[in-house]
Amino acid sequence: MKKVLLSLLRDKNIDIKKFRELSEKMGFILAGEVGDILEKEKLEVETPIDKKLGIKIKNDIIIVPILRAALSLLPPFLKFFEYAKVGFLGLRRDEKSVIAKMYYKNIPTIKESDDVIILDPMIATGGSGSKAIKILKELGVREGKIIFVSVICSKPGVNKIKTAFPKIKLIYVEQDEVLNANKFIVPGLGDFGDRFFGTL
Ligand code: PRP
Ligand code: URA
Repeated sequence: MKKVLLSLLRDKNIDIKKFRELSEKMGFILAGEVGDILEKEKLEVETPIDKKLGIKIKNDIIIVPILRAALSLLPPFLKFFEYAKVGFLGLRRDEKSVIAKMYYKNIPTIKESDDVIILDPMIATGGSGSKAIKILKELGVREGKIIFVSVICSKPGVNKIKTAFPKIKLIYVEQDEVLNANKFIVPGLGDFGDRFFGTL
């Protein structure tokens, strides 16, 4: 289903309302995928008939959306992970150098056992993602505790992140081969943040 949604999200002719609806649906699917790989522990449940040994998510969760585009995925993730704390990282690519610069940071205290979910729907050069991971590692988060969630990533962007941070768990919907001269993903979907927030 996520590839069906992404095919529609890529379409330049959909309006902002449709783009937002599709982003929210995609967020639910991706949040479910994250839930599948989070560490679990046993949970004994009593059904109206008998007992059943079930499971529950073991650790507390911190969600870190990279502003702005990842704000699109935050509401569906909070529906799944209702008690998650949220830390914000504002990163913006300079239009000329395409280097991501941080303009805002507000991260809650992170315990060693916490699972950290970074959200960013687009990985182009991988610069923003790498910066976010580095910032979290500097705060003491182990690579193996980070799940990075994206929608479209480029091959070079993924290679950059996987090479620098081999223990990261990376979830994405599709990988596109190349970047254009402006370091936009080809074919991609354009500028996710601009399409979601209407700043075209
Ligand atoms: C976009 C996107 C990613 C980043 C990816 O953000 O949302 O954060 O670019 O590119 P990279 O992998 O080359 O770093 P942008 O800087 O345009 O800011 P925005 O979300 O506020 O639009
Ligand atoms: N950011 C986007 O939103 N899209 C791209 O293709 C590259 C960076």
